[in-house]
Amino acid sequence: MKICFLGCGNITQAIIDGLLKSGISSSGIYCIERNEQRVESLRTQNLQTIELKDLASMDFDLILLAVKPKDALSAEQSIFKMAPAAAILSVVAGIGIEKYSQPNTIIRAMPNTACAFGKGVTAIYAADQSSAGFKNAKSLFSKIGHVLMLQSEDEMHRFTSVIGSGQAFLFQVLDIYLKELEKISTTNQAAAKSMFQDFISSLVDSFSQEQNFESLINKIKSPGGTTQAGLESLKKNNLEKILKDAFRAAEDRSIEISNEQ
Ligand SMILES: NC(=O)c1ccc[n+]([C@@H]2O[C@H](COP(=O)([O-])OP(=O)(O)OC[C@H]3O[C@@H](n4cnc5c(N)ncnc54)[C@H](OP(=O)(O)O)[C@@H]3O)[C@@H](O)[C@H]2O)c1
Repeated sequence: MKICFLGCGNITQAIIDGLLKSGISSSGIYCIERNEQRVESLRTQNLQTIELKDLASMDFDLILLAVKPKDALSAEQSIFKMAPAAAILSVVAGIGIEKYSQPNTIIRAMPNTACAFGKGVTAIYAADQSSAGFKNAKSLFSKIGHVLMLQSEDEMHRFTSVIGSGQAFLFQVLDIYLKELEKISTTNQAAAKSMFQDFISSLVDSFSQEQNFESLINKIKSPGGTTQAGLESLKKNNLEKILKDAFRAAEDRSIEISNEQ
């Protein structure tokens, strides 16, 4: 598959990292980026950088649009001028297919940065799910993680919150834990980071063994003990509501962004 990324920041880097790790050759990957520092970084990785005008003379199976929402509509119009028949795979949050100048050419996807490790979760949607572009998009994201096919574009707001943003919410929670760990290992901060990494990976091991958080928690807590005291504090402070509100806020923001364009 020959693919061109337009906008090569965080999410593009994660997708490219995942694709290269999956065995895809860098010879089929092209990048268009305006930020000079990023262009330099792409070149250091031996990735091919091209200009927007080159789209007129090159054929791609997919052009993956990964710019910030404010830049998306003008970038799509520029692609259309150069390559009117191209299938555009947009990972841009919040901008619905109908907002683009050529809705028929757009496939929407919402990946997360876990794609870099082949462990991504990507929701994809297009009005025509039998097109070659949609099949290529599905095949691309299947190489770097799980793919969820949406039946309606409206579902994308929810997925943007849970998949796109949710990872950051958990990072925020884990950061609080890391800081607590660093406080108790004041003499050796490097050891704290290493302990933390093993701790995170042990959470995955525990979950693989027993896929039920209630029973995992029950193995740690005892009536009237320290864990129970902490869990009661979390409940009293309504942790569940705090996190659910964060998911709703992200979903609402996705809807807002789509109305702003
Ligand atoms: N980051 C994530 O985890 C994630 C997950 C899912 C979806 N997304 C979506 O993916 C999109 C990109 O996010 P990101 O975090 O990767 O953003 P980012 O790091 O800012 O990367 C975007 C890059 O595209 C460049 N760019 C913008 N317009 C361009 C143009 N016309 N031609 C060439 N390059 C252009 C930007 O340059 P400048 O710096 O000069 O603007 C920037 O280097 C967003 O719409 C976001 O909603 C992100």
